[in-house]
Amino acid sequence: MDAKSPPQLIIVDDAPALAEAAAGRLVEQVSGKDRAAVALTGGSSPQGLYRLLAEEPWRSKVPWDRVHWFVGDDRFVPENDALSNMGTARRVFLDRVGAPRQNIHPMPTDTNYPEGAARLYEDELKAFYGAERLDPTKPLFDLVLMGLGDDGHTASLFPNSPALDESQRWVLAIAKAGMEPFVPRVTLTFPALASTREMLFLVDSAPKRGILTRVLSGDDLPARRAHADGKLEWLVVRAAAPER
Ligand code: 6PG
Repeated sequence: MDAKSPPQLIIVDDAPALAEAAAGRLVEQVSGKDRAAVALTGGSSPQGLYRLLAEEPWRSKVPWDRVHWFVGDDRFVPENDALSNMGTARRVFLDRVGAPRQNIHPMPTDTNYPEGAARLYEDELKAFYGAERLDPTKPLFDLVLMGLGDDGHTASLFPNSPALDESQRWVLAIAKAGMEPFVPRVTLTFPALASTREMLFLVDSAPKRGILTRVLSGDDLPARRAHADGKLEWLVVRAAAPER
């Protein structure tokens, strides 16, 4: 992991505690700003957090008018498909709280092919950021949420993929997913994901313990390569934490 920002491991008792802790981080990062940006993640790990955000007391703590919601990766399916990461976020919290439409930035999976969606999303991110190049002193995001796949992937950056080494593009199409669901993906690259005040990995279940142990012991897995210009934190349930 990046030497500039050593990862911090935060161990919590269980999945509900993980969701509470993540909600606290999110509120802290999006509060007191004219405009804030969050990159959401897919899979099951963020579901508890998403549910909390739609309910009190968390719902009232989020300045919905001022927060913009992106995704770190998505599956190339329509938003009403159960596999869609942004579609899921909408159903579980964004629609329920009435987040302003213009603040929701889905990947355009209604284009003809994933590469087109990647180009369009990169343009959208650049327009939002207001520059063509990322400046490490001006992060694109306030918070980037990340998950840990069973094979060590994160976002849609799978082991041995050339996408892991991308240094110029902000968004890439991934024709073949390394894991289920085997649908094409669109993913932010490591440099784009790194442009954040805080990157927060969510590891919410015991079966992740083996792969998390490998990541933390330095195996060259995608999740290990993730880095952040700001803080890098791993929020982990005790049952998934490696023995010390
Ligand atoms: C996706 C993801 C992916 C996910 C991990 C962990 O779209 O699939 O964003 O990177 O975060 O696979 O998924 P789980 O939380 O379901 O284990």
